[in-house]
Amino acid sequence: MNELLDYIEQKKHDESRQGEALNLELNESSYKNNKHFYIESYGCAMNFSDSEIVASILGKQGYSLTTNIFDADLVFLNTCSIREKAEQTVRQRLRSINEIKEQKSTLLVGVLGCMAERLKSKFLEEEKLVDLVVGPDAYRSLPDLIQEAETGHKAVNVLLSREETYADIAPVRLDTTGITAFISIMRGCNNMCSFCVVPFTRGRERSRNPQTIIAEATDLFNKGYREVTLLGQNVDSYRWTGDDTNKADDTENKEANVLVNFAQLLEMVALVNPLLRVRFSTSHPKDITDEVLHTIAKYNNICSYIHLPVQSGSSACLERMNRTYDRAWYMNRVEAIRRIIPDCGISSDIIAGFCGETEEEHQDTLSMMDFAQYDYSYMFFYSERPGTLAARKFADDVPLDIKKRRLAEIVDKQYQLSLESNLRDIGKTYEVLVEKVSKKSEEEYCGRNSQNKMIIFPKGNYKIGDYVNVYIESANKATLKGKVV
Ligand code: SAH
Ligand code: SF4
Ligand code: F3S
Repeated sequence: MNELLDYIEQKKHDESRQGEALNLELNESSYKNNKHFYIESYGCAMNFSDSEIVASILGKQGYSLTTNIFDADLVFLNTCSIREKAEQTVRQRLRSINEIKEQKSTLLVGVLGCMAERLKSKFLEEEKLVDLVVGPDAYRSLPDLIQEAETGHKAVNVLLSREETYADIAPVRLDTTGITAFISIMRGCNNMCSFCVVPFTRGRERSRNPQTIIAEATDLFNKGYREVTLLGQNVDSYRWTGDDTNKADDTENKEANVLVNFAQLLEMVALVNPLLRVRFSTSHPKDITDEVLHTIAKYNNICSYIHLPVQSGSSACLERMNRTYDRAWYMNRVEAIRRIIPDCGISSDIIAGFCGETEEEHQDTLSMMDFAQYDYSYMFFYSERPGTLAARKFADDVPLDIKKRRLAEIVDKQYQLSLESNLRDIGKTYEVLVEKVSKKSEEEYCGRNSQNKMIIFPKGNYKIGDYVNVYIESANKATLKGKVV
């Protein structure tokens, strides 16, 4: 592992190593088996990233990807369980896929991801048309499971693993413009937020070998990508101990075993190339360190943007949520961000109407939003998930109409904050990575600034993947508009 620790220093001094590819397994398959698979992803970025691993595993077995469901021999839904609505969406989609299966009896339907893990073989009883149920840590067994399903047997593998990180698998990029990509740096979650199903569907937290992360980032850069987002449920607790089995997690003195922490990993990825932007998600308020903030401040290509979900602004509510920080702690972290990275964009996740939430606690959430001045938030009303701590311990006692009213107030507040934040940007100039042609006009490009704000501007002679400086001329709550200077 010494070579890893030397890596940062080496990178700083040896420019000629930039762009060097480490030995990451490539996924080109030498043969095709005439079968086509189709995959749809729901839920968080982690799931979208996992679908790219699934595509790689199937590609190696000779299956071809199709984006037309009617051409498919295998249809996969990579599912999400985070709220009841997410599960309903999948069940509805299964209904419409059933109609296709009625016309094509050989079609195999597989459910992957968090819903597969939560419901396990119960899924097969509830949804008759499903042939495969495969949890997030079992994708390597997909080829065998498909064979089993082809013989008419229902196939299930929902074993969770303490080791699996798919570190050696080069994802097949789906749905991409070739400029931005996700890189999974860890899996699972060791927190036990009382509302959350993720620890049950994704298992224990484990970190991926940093060498394979750097190799993936380098490979992406060489292929023309200019931005990577490092993914984990709680990236700040990334900790590589030099042990692929993650057994070191069980030892008494965890910190003593850490060879690479998240701040160091960020730096290693930033050093792949100054033209490769680095983003990351999600940061947990209890774990984000000043060391991480200083690393962000130090490198121009680590984006000044932090997604720091607060969930609630009330200490009492945070306690019931088992978030392990309180209002004062969260405010301290926001102040640290403002001090160390003055131009940093901050966004949040907020839950309205959690168990026992009083009107006063709700007001605390609104005042926290004012304090943090979020540029953006993902906002939800509480949805009880079976088996979670909250479902076992607390009554889901805030009536739906009150949940919805509080959520509407939170959404209104956020719209106001986003608008104000965007209006403050008028007259400023930002470096923007050109991502794609704007949806609204063929004559315009769009791309984001370091703070993750979407900016629209006339195309000029620039091309996708370029960095341009854009002077902001106008703004609404969702986007900024400007011209290249
Ligand atoms: N690991 C991330 C969150 C992943 S889930 C973190 O710790 O911040 C994404 C978001 O969904 C959460 O931040 C939370 O706001 C929301 N969420 C999770 N469970 C929920 C539930 N039962 N009801 C409503 N929203 C929920
Ligand atoms: Fe869920 Fe909390 Fe883990 Fe996020 S940190 S995935 S909210 S348990
Ligand atoms: Fe959903 Fe699973 Fe992500 S529950 S939010 S897909 S980790």
